[in-house]
Amino acid sequence: MDIKIRQWKIEDAESMAEVLNNKKIMDNLRDGLPYPYTADDAREYINFLFNSDKNSTFAFAVVYGEKVVGCLGVFRQDNVSYRAAEMGYYIGEPYWNKGIATCAIKQACDYVFKNTDIIRIYAEPFARNKASCRVLEKAGFTCEGTLRSNVVKNGIIEDSKIYAVIKV
Ligand SMILES: CC(C)(COP(=O)(O)OP(=O)(O)OC[C@H]1O[C@@H](n2cnc3c(N)ncnc32)[C@H](O)[C@@H]1OP(=O)(O)O)[C@@H](O)C(=O)NCCC(=O)NCCS
Repeated sequence: MDIKIRQWKIEDAESMAEVLNNKKIMDNLRDGLPYPYTADDAREYINFLFNSDKNSTFAFAVVYGEKVVGCLGVFRQDNVSYRAAEMGYYIGEPYWNKGIATCAIKQACDYVFKNTDIIRIYAEPFARNKASCRVLEKAGFTCEGTLRSNVVKNGIIEDSKIYAVIKV
């Protein structure tokens, strides 16, 4: 399957907005994104990425064939966790269940482990997000536990899971 990750280009803003302007995706992400999500919002975010610390923020467009279908970011933590990084991702709904996220996550982890001193990449999907938990398992992450009543999303208290992969 022709799946690649690459740096963002400002011309990707329309594609990013097309993917992200979806309540089913937003309901599985942290709060703070505007909804509806417009191409202007995407341009602002891509510009923010251009100006972010290249040693701490690793943000990739997920490309399927020639089309940008998703977004994946690995964000270094600080203080004593400075060699750990949190990962977030989403794929456009028309492209779900084709193995795209699994493939993109593997590529991003390989990149980060090869090119940085990061030794741990983790993700915290909401416990109800079975697709995300499954993707992480398929990409080689280990479930380290349940974070009980860890989040409030859309007014509902929820558990999340913590998954991690360690550099070997
Ligand atoms: C989670 C997400 C990134 C997965 O992307 P994807 O490209 O469809 O993932 P993949 O195709 O690589 O794998 C999906 C797996 O989840 C499984 N799955 C999907 N829905 C499921 C469900 N409701 N219950 C159980 N498993 C499910 C699929 O069957 C597949 O597993 P399989 O290969 O063993 O059959 C995508 O659904 C998404 O963007 N969701 C909204 C945003 C989000 O949740 N982001 C992650 C926040 S932590």
